[in-house]
Amino acid sequence: MTKKVRKAVLPTAGLGTRFLPATKASPKEMLPIVDKPMIQYAVEEAEACGISEFIMVTGKSKRAIEDHFDYAWELEENLRSKGEHKMLDEIRRLNHLQFAYIRQGLPLGLGHAIHCSKAFVNDEPFAVLLSDDIIDPDDKLLKNMMKLYNKYHATILALQRVPRSDIHRYGVIAGNEVQKNLFRITDMVEKPAASAAPSDLAIIGRYILTPDIFRFIETTIPGKGKEIQLTDALKALLKKKPVFGFLFEGRRYDAGDKAGYLKATVELALKSPSVKDDFRKYLLSVISKLQKEI
Ligand code: UTP
Repeated sequence: MTKKVRKAVLPTAGLGTRFLPATKASPKEMLPIVDKPMIQYAVEEAEACGISEFIMVTGKSKRAIEDHFDYAWELEENLRSKGEHKMLDEIRRLNHLQFAYIRQGLPLGLGHAIHCSKAFVNDEPFAVLLSDDIIDPDDKLLKNMMKLYNKYHATILALQRVPRSDIHRYGVIAGNEVQKNLFRITDMVEKPAASAAPSDLAIIGRYILTPDIFRFIETTIPGKGKEIQLTDALKALLKKKPVFGFLFEGRRYDAGDKAGYLKATVELALKSPSVKDDFRKYLLSVISKLQKEI
């Protein structure tokens, strides 16, 4: 019987250099967006798809992630004694999930980070979520990818169309559309120059992988930036097995760099029941000030 996707791997061992000095001693994944750390959005997205086992691949200076998803009994007692039941429920909401932590040791690339989870993933398909790609929860990207996995039992990557000017920041695919928004991938290139990109379809931070990928990572030679690239392992895999790309047309906030992080904050603050009204008024006042300056 084909196994279901029950586990998620969240690689969080990168150095976060685009956020220095903020990330010198604290993890990028713990930067807050409105009232939650970035990584919690990804965990909640996977939880909404029925995933309850999380494998966090961490590195130096990432302990705050473990503390965040741990029980906080002193805080819970404090909130209980003050009758702050709503906040208490909020901080306990993810307590039923299981988290395993594994250290990457050296940041040798995304492919290497995923390989570190091999013993925990075992012989099962699994989701990978890169927490600095924040997906609007209403647009249900991972849920749709899981449906496709349950139909095809093959590797599924999330894709988005990106402008040519940004293409050099992504893994880019070539492929044939086999049904609406589903591509059978025939080739992929990591961070190509715009002139060498095979399409404008970029791989974004959600994957459903099968355990075959580990073998292919093991034989991947370090590529761009001397890192073991997941894209190179996937490229070897697609010569042997089908790999599909699902074109996501919903909202993604790329919080991996400063400008994207600020945009994600604005977009999500405008949706947050606790701040949206005040924040909207404030933004309108900023817009009118800016318009006067032009
Ligand atoms: P990024 O390319 O965004 O790198 O990694 P980064 O280190 O997080 O940030 P910058 O570029 O230095 O600013 C994509 C994802 O892969 C993880 C990162 O934590 C991030 O979630 N990653 C990357 C690892 O876990 N290990 C690595 O060796 C590299």
